[in-house]
Formats: sequence, C-alpha cells, structure tokens
Amino acid sequence: MTEIEWWDYEDAAEMADALAGDIQFIIEAAIDARGAAVIALAGGKTPLPIYEKLVKAKLDWKRVTILPTDERIVPLGDPLSNVTALGKTFIPKGARVIPIVPAATEDYKAAGRSADALCQDLHWPLDLCLLGVGGDGHTASIFPGPDFDEALNGPKERRALGVMPEPLPPEAPVARVTLSRAGIASARALMIAISGKAKKKVLEDAIKQGASSSYPIGRVLAEVELPVDIHWSEQ
Ligand code: 6PG
Repeated sequence: MTEIEWWDYEDAAEMADALAGDIQFIIEAAIDARGAAVIALAGGKTPLPIYEKLVKAKLDWKRVTILPTDERIVPLGDPLSNVTALGKTFIPKGARVIPIVPAATEDYKAAGRSADALCQDLHWPLDLCLLGVGGDGHTASIFPGPDFDEALNGPKERRALGVMPEPLPPEAPVARVTLSRAGIASARALMIAISGKAKKKVLEDAIKQGASSSYPIGRVLAEVELPVDIHWSEQ
C-alpha cells in the first residue's frame, strides 16, 4: 500500500499556487536529468486554476510533452474533449500535446489500442501524472463497468485502453480512453488534486481502504509503490 501525504487548502486558488510550483519543479528536474519531460494531466474542472498558473512558468516548454490522463471519444474540438479544454487554458508555447483520441470512433477498444500505441512511442515512465477524482471515486477514466478489471489488472506494459463506463457519467456520457493503472502507477511522480472536499469526503476512506475499496481511486492507488501527495481544497 502506498504512502499517502494529505495536503489541505482553503480554496482552489491556494491549491493552484502550491501545485503549479510543484509541477514546475518536477518538469525542471526531468529536463535537467533526461533532457525532456513527459507529463499526463487530468481533465475536469479542478486542475484548471493550476494550469492557468503553470502556463506562466518560465520553462523550456519545447522539451515538454503533455498528454491527458484520459480522453472522451469525441471529435477534437468537441467541448467534451479534455485536450480541447486543456488547449483553451493551457498549451504553453512550444510544448507538444498528444491528443490520444485524434478522431471519434464507435469502436472504443480500437481507440484504446491506438492511444496505447501513441503512449508506447513516448519516453516512459511519465515524469508526472496529475489525477483528479470524481465524486464516485473514478480517476482518469477508470470507472466501474465492463472494462474496469482490464483497466486495473491488464498487462503491465499496456499504458492506455478504451473503456465504456457503466453507468455513463452524466457530465460526459461517452466512451473514453484512459491511462491504465499500470501506466499511472509507473509515473515518477503522482499527484492527486481534488476540489469540493465536503462533497467528496467519502473518498478519504475510499483511498485509505486501498485494494479492498469499492472506489476506483482506492484500487488504483493500492498498487502504487511511490509516495502519493493528495491535495484537497475545501471549495
Ligand atoms: C474526465 C476527468 C476526470 C476528472 C474527475 C474529477 O475526463 O472526466 O479526467 O477523471 O479528473 O471527473 O473532475 P473535477 O475535477 O471536475 O471534479
């Protein structure tokens, strides 16, 4: 079971200040050590204030590759696309962004295989994986459903896969591509940013339950070896 450190913030702005600085440090260290940084960033609303701060960082962005931790299987430009939302907030000049779902398709497993092939061509392990967590305990797009076990316990070398959440999440009722647990757990640094603590208090127990948790986030973290920082903001 991984070692978890909890960080509390009054509001999303305070968390954004702290995390933008931490992420900048991780990117700089990766560039110093390996000449480049590959980072996976969460979709959803929580990280947006972080990205708005981070985009102003003075970094050698042309050495940074960015991919989403998960993506909805919709056309690029669709408001539901995480890469499209990211592009509106945060595509630093010179950074390379990997749209892991370059085109919509009915065949979500094929979309997953194509995303995995894109990830296989990237320097792995990720230097950073920044995850969000939904109120139902999903993280990235690891949701309960027919592909849940494959996302958690698929081959270690598989970095991404297609999933069909069941039930479909109301905020984005579409199939997705997600990093696998193995892809997430192999990251050199894993950060989790959760907003609206009062509404998501159940996640504290879910995370602490680890492998026996019925929540995806608990199951994902149960296999993570390196220490994990969990950042909560009240709002
Ligand atoms: C997605 C997101 C998702 C997100 C959580 C939390 O594509 O749905 O990647 O995993 O991180 O749903 O979302 P909020 O930060 O908006 O609460």
